[in-house]
Amino acid sequence: MFTSLFDAKPVTQVPLQTTLYRDTKQSIDARVQDLLSQMTLKEKIGQMALVEKNSIREPDDIARYHLGGLLSGAGAKPEENTPQGWKDMIDGYQERASQSRLGIPLLYGADAIHGHALVEGATVFPHAIGLGATNNPGLVKTIAYATAQDMKATGVNWNFSPNLDVPQDIRWGRVYEAFSDDPERVSVLGAAYLRGLQDGGSANNVFVLATPKHYLGLGSMVWGTSKNKNYQIDQGVTPDNAELLQSVYLPPFKEAVDAGALSIMVGLNTWGDERIIFQKDLLTTALKEDVGFKGFLVSDWYGVHEGQRHKFWATVRAINAGVDMVMLPFDYEEFVSHVTWANRLGLISDERIDDAVGRILYAKFSLGLFDEVTENKTNSASFTNHAALAQDAVAQSLVLLKNESSVLPISQTISHVRVAGSSADNVGRQMGAWSIEWQGVDGNWVPNGTSILEGIKEKAGPQTVVEYSETGDFPQGDKKAPLGIAVVGESPYAEGWGDTMHPILSDADREAIKRLQSSCDKVVVVIVSGRPLLIENEVTSFDGLVAAWLPGTEGGGVADVLFGSKPFTGTLPLPWPRRTEQLPITTEGVTSDGTPVLFPRSFGLQYE
Ligand code: BGC
Repeated sequence: MFTSLFDAKPVTQVPLQTTLYRDTKQSIDARVQDLLSQMTLKEKIGQMALVEKNSIREPDDIARYHLGGLLSGAGAKPEENTPQGWKDMIDGYQERASQSRLGIPLLYGADAIHGHALVEGATVFPHAIGLGATNNPGLVKTIAYATAQDMKATGVNWNFSPNLDVPQDIRWGRVYEAFSDDPERVSVLGAAYLRGLQDGGSANNVFVLATPKHYLGLGSMVWGTSKNKNYQIDQGVTPDNAELLQSVYLPPFKEAVDAGALSIMVGLNTWGDERIIFQKDLLTTALKEDVGFKGFLVSDWYGVHEGQRHKFWATVRAINAGVDMVMLPFDYEEFVSHVTWANRLGLISDERIDDAVGRILYAKFSLGLFDEVTENKTNSASFTNHAALAQDAVAQSLVLLKNESSVLPISQTISHVRVAGSSADNVGRQMGAWSIEWQGVDGNWVPNGTSILEGIKEKAGPQTVVEYSETGDFPQGDKKAPLGIAVVGESPYAEGWGDTMHPILSDADREAIKRLQSSCDKVVVVIVSGRPLLIENEVTSFDGLVAAWLPGTEGGGVADVLFGSKPFTGTLPLPWPRRTEQLPITTEGVTSDGTPVLFPRSFGLQYE
């Protein structure tokens, strides 16, 4: 039935009536109205499509279908994964877009959620959970700005970040993407991150477009309710709770809107008994009308169509609910066809399409995209090394949970230190997922970065012998080393692939700790993980315990604090439970079984 619309003949070369929209002296509203008034239906619908770059069948399709945006999803990179490789690739796409009648530039999006970390050689900052532990909005804003500069230098003008989820169950594989389980901390840090991305450019333009996500209620899905057969809780059901909506989930988004959010991503979860993507009262009434969000709503990945028998109807329902741009991310021909038919049949009104496209164009004008093309401005941002900033962020993100008889700080004159554990010499594990690949990399093959072991070696005095064995196999006997450092933790995971019933230490890491304990007088355990791990049975045997989260490429920041060059200032961004029966934990810290957690939110020791 829809096939006649699949063939994409070029839009008739209708001459432009005015070029007011290209005039930088006009207001953005006037420019949007001028452009909108000259667009054909087909040109408008194309703007509502967001396509994964590897799904573009022919480069000419960008102009032929008037696509609104492209993205690098799931780690999709240019063949040459360098800053220049990215820039050349995206410039090429923009060149194609400029060849259409109206020459509307593309949004190009990526998940630069902890630095522009898909690019090989980028400085990778701590994941959001570590930034939550710093509770330092100034630092968070600076990191976001540094990230935006790297993005801008590669032509990526849109970041699918900051994450405003509020996780209440550490079994979820996305806990580390969130700042905290405290809506207040999430609001403050999320707004700081957004400002860092958007406000850093010239006075008039948004620097890099931020996308607070995921609207709404991500973090309180119920274990075992995932609609994705491979997952447990990710993409699951958030109970419909009007009180939590107002007190926990909406506030971070309100704060982001006040800070200037111009795009917001709708999550893949279900709210109550319906996927959130189809809920007009939450998308249009609560966010656009009540909160006053003037930007555009973008769907997440295949979220509009996932599990839907009829893609046509799913598209109609999502757009009418308030979705403005659909991350398809694959089939754009079909989308254009579906929306065209829906409009002709009166199922999606002209007003809804104009509203959606107007919102998208508003963001594009705010970014100065049209002006970069017309004035051929040179892009002055450069891709740089931010190691010092990242190393400082790592130091601020560490949380000291236990320090028996002041085992820390380590004296720089200590004679001998033994280091063990799966995460001691592994930059891939330190970075976690969303680094080079969607699921991250395990190992040390990244071109830059300092492992925690290397940091310890650098920091220790010249007279200190630092021995390393991943498994903790050191000579046993009378001559114990005065100190062992076990750096243990999780291997990288992203999204539902990280859902786990038992967030615990691996057998190998538990063994490494035991071996270290038998060959050292005292042992400090450093946990490198995306969430608190359940260590109730082991913790009593540790002399010291540090949560290092997923620190990124600059492992040297860990040694700075272990050796006392810098203080411990981090505090737990969320409670550290004892056992799974305590999950989920409310944002007020109430456990499911009513028993106390191991360490409450905001806990963190300091040096005397
Ligand atoms: C994730 C989003 C992400 C998007 C684009 C989805 O699978 O849920 O957080 O921004 O992919 O990569």
